[in-house]
Amino acid sequence: MVTPERRLPRSVDVRASAKINLHLGVGAAREDGFHPLETVYQAIGLHDELVATEDEAFRVVTHGAAYVDVTDVPVGADNIVARATALMAARVEVEPTADFLVHKEIPVAGGMAGGSADAAAALLALDRLWDAGTPDDELLALAAELGSDVPFALIGGTALGTGRGELVTPIADSGPWWWVVVPSSAGGLSTPAVYRRFDEMFPGADPEPASAAAVISALATHDPHRLGAALHNDLQEPAIDLRPDLGDLLDRGESEGAVRGLVSGSGPTCLFLAESPTAAHALAGALRGSGQPVVLVAAGPVPGAQVVDAP
Ligand code: C5P
Repeated sequence: MVTPERRLPRSVDVRASAKINLHLGVGAAREDGFHPLETVYQAIGLHDELVATEDEAFRVVTHGAAYVDVTDVPVGADNIVARATALMAARVEVEPTADFLVHKEIPVAGGMAGGSADAAAALLALDRLWDAGTPDDELLALAAELGSDVPFALIGGTALGTGRGELVTPIADSGPWWWVVVPSSAGGLSTPAVYRRFDEMFPGADPEPASAAAVISALATHDPHRLGAALHNDLQEPAIDLRPDLGDLLDRGESEGAVRGLVSGSGPTCLFLAESPTAAHALAGALRGSGQPVVLVAAGPVPGAQVVDAP
């Protein structure tokens, strides 16, 4: 008797990076409610990993490092991996089913685009799992439908972002740059809430976002002091207004030797630029000593979403 050959379900393993904004120029809200941006993204060495396995149902299980509060990750149709699956399945014309295991090291609601990293990873994994061969420009367009930061999460490196952040162009970066990353130990901040606070605090904001030229030229120098002086985030004041403890943390990091402290995107994660890897580890030690429970060190730029294992 011939027994039918049983095939193991295929799996694809994708790693995606956190982003920081070295420049985040925000203009007055557009008619659609989004804010025009001129931003410089950098992908840094802090990753989520997603394993997608063929399945007849859709399932996503999310877990994370001890400092990542996955209870804040939306469940059901709002989960960004579910949204990415529905979008990719409609394009490929297959059933929106797969089994996902997501391991998070990127803080949830931290201003580091962790959800966007997972969305980019899911698009890439499903493209492979379903042998879809989606051209890069189509993958970027699907990514833009999922969120303003998702196209950057696909490409990684360092890039200029315009539009609402979804139009990305790679830019030259003489890195590595060394960052000390302090995730909030007091919960996340909602991105829409921080933009709303921006609108309240700056009712006369220029529709044209601030230019990123100073950061772009500093990136070419490999001088951390030039880059430190150029770092700019228009969401920092609204984030500190909502969470005054962030201002104290930035002051503390700068007094402990950081070249410059900066809120990451819409916060509440804080970033500190260090002169060297040694300086970064020394600063991390000092911040831990001052009572910060979680202090990470990461370098950038690094690649965006990448397949690490596939059949
Ligand atoms: O694009 P994404 O879904 O990540 O945006 C989340 C929210 O952040 C938007 O609903 C909007 O409130 C705000 N946002 C904005 N302007 C941008 C990007 C995001 O106002 N350029």
